[in-house]
Amino acid sequence: MIVPRLIERKRDGGRLEPGEWHELIQSYATNGIPDYQISALLMAIFFRGLDREEMNAVTDAMIDSGARLDLSHLTIPRLDKHSTGGVGDKVSLILAPLIASLGAAVPMMSGRGLGHTGGTLDKLEAIPGFRTDLTLDAARKQIDRIGCALIGQTNEIAPADRKIYALRDATATVEIVPLIAASIMSKKLAEGLTGLVLDVKEGSGAFLPAAERGITLAKAMIQLGEDRGCPVVALVTAMDRPLGRACGNAIEVKESIDALRGNGPDDLMEVTFALAAEMLLLGKIASSHEDAWRQMRGAISSGKALDKFRQIVEAQGGDPRIIDDQSILPAAQLTEKFVAPRDGFVREVTPRTIGYGIIEIRGGRRTMEDTIDPGVGFVIDVKPGDPVRRGDLLATIHARDEAGIAAGRKVLKEAIPIGDEAGTCLPLVSRRITSAGVAPWMKPAV
Ligand code: URA
Repeated sequence: MIVPRLIERKRDGGRLEPGEWHELIQSYATNGIPDYQISALLMAIFFRGLDREEMNAVTDAMIDSGARLDLSHLTIPRLDKHSTGGVGDKVSLILAPLIASLGAAVPMMSGRGLGHTGGTLDKLEAIPGFRTDLTLDAARKQIDRIGCALIGQTNEIAPADRKIYALRDATATVEIVPLIAASIMSKKLAEGLTGLVLDVKEGSGAFLPAAERGITLAKAMIQLGEDRGCPVVALVTAMDRPLGRACGNAIEVKESIDALRGNGPDDLMEVTFALAAEMLLLGKIASSHEDAWRQMRGAISSGKALDKFRQIVEAQGGDPRIIDDQSILPAAQLTEKFVAPRDGFVREVTPRTIGYGIIEIRGGRRTMEDTIDPGVGFVIDVKPGDPVRRGDLLATIHARDEAGIAAGRKVLKEAIPIGDEAGTCLPLVSRRITSAGVAPWMKPAV
């Protein structure tokens, strides 16, 4: 294989054969090709794209670069969800125990905060003692025992993707739809799933803000899954404002526990139930959307879903007392209320400003080496369009020190402008995408 010839062919609008992709990716994963050659190839892909056969070949090569989580001995459905990421998005913490409590296996592999978006692993690690670095073998044993494991991408799964993703991040080549699809699906397909649900965010706080690009990504991921025997359904959900009220690691864990007790904010519950219902349908645990919503309400009101969360926390070394006593969670030293400076309407609550604001007050990473303060963040009490009077509570800042409070004030002033005209919101869940196409999403009448 003469790598410059392959780069040249891609650069000039040609295509590479599946065997060539396999050789390239295996060789890069085992340090046989230098970063500078793959960087040049990535930039050529950025401008020339990948056709369907190439995307399939890249996905298979990335899966084959590592191990798989073999759960084929299980007779129950094996289901997971992937989100393109957001602010205040703690859906995984609620949905995983909820679905496991209804009889599915949930091998959930999550990520850390990326850019302005939060990460499920960082939220889980706010629970004292909670470990997300399980080996595949430990995860498999835990799933056999309690039906769910919440883990990070181990070195064993799709190592080629890990290396290529880091290079894309450093070479401004992340935003290539077929490579994003191949990257995400290589990890998900290595989990040995029988069904996958995608949460494709739209709006200013989304990874791909324009819904059309998100839908193109969803279609590519659906095709990759279905061609490999894993049915995939995607929902387009709103990320033009944060989801729920809490934005920050420990306070999001608290809100998730409240949600599992039946006291979650309406928007968070609607998005969680919409996604979880699709999982229950894919797993044939529910016979209709209405049946799924009824089963989920039952699992929450009976305490079954919360009990499952307790089992997961205990199994992964976390302190299970946090379920009943959230004062054990890390907390900020200081809090300060942020109130409306005038009468008017909330024009917007911008997720990007809030997300970067959390990093600013030390709740997220500026560099990969940064340690984060799990206790800090914002609890936001308003949504775009809400009428407010001067002095009404808009949000609460949770910070480590006075400097954090001052920075938090500045963030909220920018993120929550009050004006004479009411802001508008995208529909919380707008579209349902399957291999048959895109349709409007309808909330079940239950
Ligand atoms: N998340 C991933 O895992 N891969 C991408 O390429 C983009 C987001």
